[in-house]
Amino acid sequence: MMTSAPVTAAAAGTWKLGDLTVNRMGFGAMRLPQTGRALVTGAIPGDRDRAIAVLRRAVELGVNHIDTAAFYFSSLRSANELINTALAPYPDDLVIVTKVGPGRDASGEWLPAAKPDQLRGQVEENLRQLGLDHLDVVNLRNLLGSGSLAEHFGALAELRDAGLVRHLGVSGVTPEQLAEAQAIAPVVCVQNRYSIGASRQEHEFVTTCGDEGVAFVPFFTIAGPGRGAGAVGAEPEPVLAIARAHGTTPAQVRLAWTLQRGPHVLVIPGTSNPEHLAGNVAAGALRLTEDEMTRLESWHA
Ligand SMILES: NC(=O)c1ccc[n+]([C@@H]2O[C@H](COP(=O)([O-])OP(=O)(O)OC[C@H]3O[C@@H](n4cnc5c(N)ncnc54)[C@H](OP(=O)(O)O)[C@@H]3O)[C@@H](O)[C@H]2O)c1
Repeated sequence: MMTSAPVTAAAAGTWKLGDLTVNRMGFGAMRLPQTGRALVTGAIPGDRDRAIAVLRRAVELGVNHIDTAAFYFSSLRSANELINTALAPYPDDLVIVTKVGPGRDASGEWLPAAKPDQLRGQVEENLRQLGLDHLDVVNLRNLLGSGSLAEHFGALAELRDAGLVRHLGVSGVTPEQLAEAQAIAPVVCVQNRYSIGASRQEHEFVTTCGDEGVAFVPFFTIAGPGRGAGAVGAEPEPVLAIARAHGTTPAQVRLAWTLQRGPHVLVIPGTSNPEHLAGNVAAGALRLTEDEMTRLESWHA
């Protein structure tokens, strides 16, 4: 019996984060340390062997862009430790992107946002956990609202100059904050919340990033309004109809729509479920029509 080879992450095409080429279909590690909602105290730890198997399978399927953070942990599991255990020695083409700014204490309670002089310690924490001597890409996760990021981003630019970090990105930012950061040091990616149902301004920011040659890396692509709780709500009718028309799942429609928003858009769907992983990677081969793209772009709750 013939079995067809699985679709790999290469089907989504590639993008360069600075000098690092990645498949546009990536993986987010936030869902691995626990079951249910992430980043809360008391979360039930996820299955360790399953998490390690998902990470290894992701890489087997061609994923070479993994998003993580030192603050992705539950009482017994740390995303960075799982990545290290599953994947080190790391493949040459693997790009691990981490983020700093937020922090949680040892029991999982949120700490105040890091001050600029605390960012070096957060970078070093990621280095220790991942077993690396420099980080490929570090995002400054904004916790300052619409205020200036200059001091924080300037501190990261110094770590880049010192060789601890290769490339910088920003997360949870406005277009003005992106411009402010770009005046300090090159920015290779913007990681913001973005999914079907986004506002006009959010759609425009995706386009702006493309115009500037900056990767746009959305989170909650599948979860949408469920945010941290995950894919919990009912799917909008156009997503269901388009999924039916293509014989795919709503999650795959969400991922395909997002990838088709521009060649600079990279997705990082998060899952601890091996079947979901395979389905998500396969979505890189799904092509929506222009009409389907427009219907989904104009959909609002
Ligand atoms: N910069 C930031 O502030 C920020 C914030 C949040 C997240 N992130 C990053 O972005 C990544 C993506 O965010 P996310 O993981 O929260 O959201 P997501 O990828 O939009 O959705 C993940 C949720 O959808 C479920 N799911 C995944 N694949 C599915 C499928 N094929 N069918 C049905 N359900 C599916 C997951 O549960 P199962 O495990 O059951 O599949 C999980 O509940 C994170 O992993 C993290 O690396 C960054």
